Amino acid sequence: MKRIWCLLIFATVAPAADAPRINGPKVYGVHPARPFLYTIPATGPRPMKFSARGLPRSLKLDSNTGRITGTSPERGEYTVTLRARNSHGTAERAFRIVSGDTLALTPPMGWSTWYMAYAQISDQLVRAQADAMVSSGLIQHGYSYINIDDGWNVKPGSPDPEVGGAARDGEGNLLPNKKFPDMKALCDYVHSKGLKIGIYIGPGPLTCAGYEASYGHEEQDARQFARWGFDFLKYDLCSYRKLIKDRNSVEENEKPYLAMHAALEKLDRDFVYNLCQYGLANVWEWGRRAGGNFWRTTGDVGSAKAGLWERVSEVGFSQAGKEKWAGPGGWNDPDNLLIGQILWHRKLQPTPLTADEQYSYVTLWSILAAPLVFGGDMTKLDDFTLDLLTNDEVIDINQDVLGRQGAPVWKSGDTEVWAKDLADGSKAAALFNRGESEADVAARWRDLSIRGKQAVRDVWSHTDLGEYDGEFRARLPKHGSRMLRLRGLNR
Ligand code: GLA
Repeated sequence: MKRIWCLLIFATVAPAADAPRINGPKVYGVHPARPFLYTIPATGPRPMKFSARGLPRSLKLDSNTGRITGTSPERGEYTVTLRARNSHGTAERAFRIVSGDTLALTPPMGWSTWYMAYAQISDQLVRAQADAMVSSGLIQHGYSYINIDDGWNVKPGSPDPEVGGAARDGEGNLLPNKKFPDMKALCDYVHSKGLKIGIYIGPGPLTCAGYEASYGHEEQDARQFARWGFDFLKYDLCSYRKLIKDRNSVEENEKPYLAMHAALEKLDRDFVYNLCQYGLANVWEWGRRAGGNFWRTTGDVGSAKAGLWERVSEVGFSQAGKEKWAGPGGWNDPDNLLIGQILWHRKLQPTPLTADEQYSYVTLWSILAAPLVFGGDMTKLDDFTLDLLTNDEVIDINQDVLGRQGAPVWKSGDTEVWAKDLADGSKAAALFNRGESEADVAARWRDLSIRGKQAVRDVWSHTDLGEYDGEFRARLPKHGSRMLRLRGLNR
């Protein structure tokens, strides 16, 4: 009898496995009076019905798709209760819309063309990837940006009829190349999927791959991007480097980024602004002031001379010390996630990283509160890669509203323990073994600045590991890691 009661209680209290879960950020920043698009990321079998309590009047929710559209409300904070229901149950989550001066209140999540295609991109490729962001389910976990990188416009002097020709029209407006016949239609298409779309250019005369860039046309190009309907700009220094006399001068390095920021601010659309200048003149110290929502802190993670793992760990672990400058609205960017099918040695193939290295990669980017920009081919996602990208407990740590960048709290030889404070008072900890053989790593409470008994949860496997006091110890494989969430029990 007792057992039946237990089962009954469990059945009513525990959410059914197939009940919806609302994922993604819990806070969302917009500028007032701009076009608004947010798709509620929610997992669970469809059909699903969405509703929202407390939605500002200028917004409307499509109850079938979970898409919120309209015009962003006047300056203020709006707490909305999002709700998703399917035949297995209901999920509810508070969601704060902050209409003000700051976008990217949590690290942006999306995908970029660069590491799967370099400059060999087209309208068709981008549409197919947008389709795949939806059909793979990535959209249900908070991925929302489809970012076009280098290679979309004209390459001055190129003999290739598809990318050569006039880079601008008679009035100086930027022209896409022949592989992008209608940029507005492409933006509309991506929006029609509930996603956002990003574009790429630079402040110099040419981009890194030699395509037309914005030098002398900054405002005009920004207006063109807005007319087409873009939502995001990656601004890549490249050929502008030659115009900087003192490479350590903050003023000189900041100037082109401030100029484009000023141009973006005049538009009637929200643009998330990604500075790409490889960390020159300590960009993390002034990237936010220059208007950036995230800034690359290093050279390309894909430009690995030795192995990819060596480069990933060099770039990722070198974010230590930069945590002071990261937070809501402005994030350090250690570049994209090179997992799944990526261009490697100029061929589309599976990432050369081992499974443990891939877990460590995503663990590190998540505890760093780094933007999660997938670099692989979304039309060729295998289950392992999809699982790596869509673990909602891991994403919750990345997207936590406190917006802290995690930092190392202990190091010895090749082993490190990193920690990140979370909004609900719990703590994320990541244990890493960067060495070439198995190693024991201990997360000690005194290093984590916590006390007393802690409920320890393994976030990757969604398992409660039990109560621990003083430390948590694990044996990690070569290049392996562990990510935990610790909640104090003696409060
Ligand atoms: C630079 C950037 C990359 C990519 C390429 C495009 O290398 O750092 O992220 O945008 O240019 O050419």
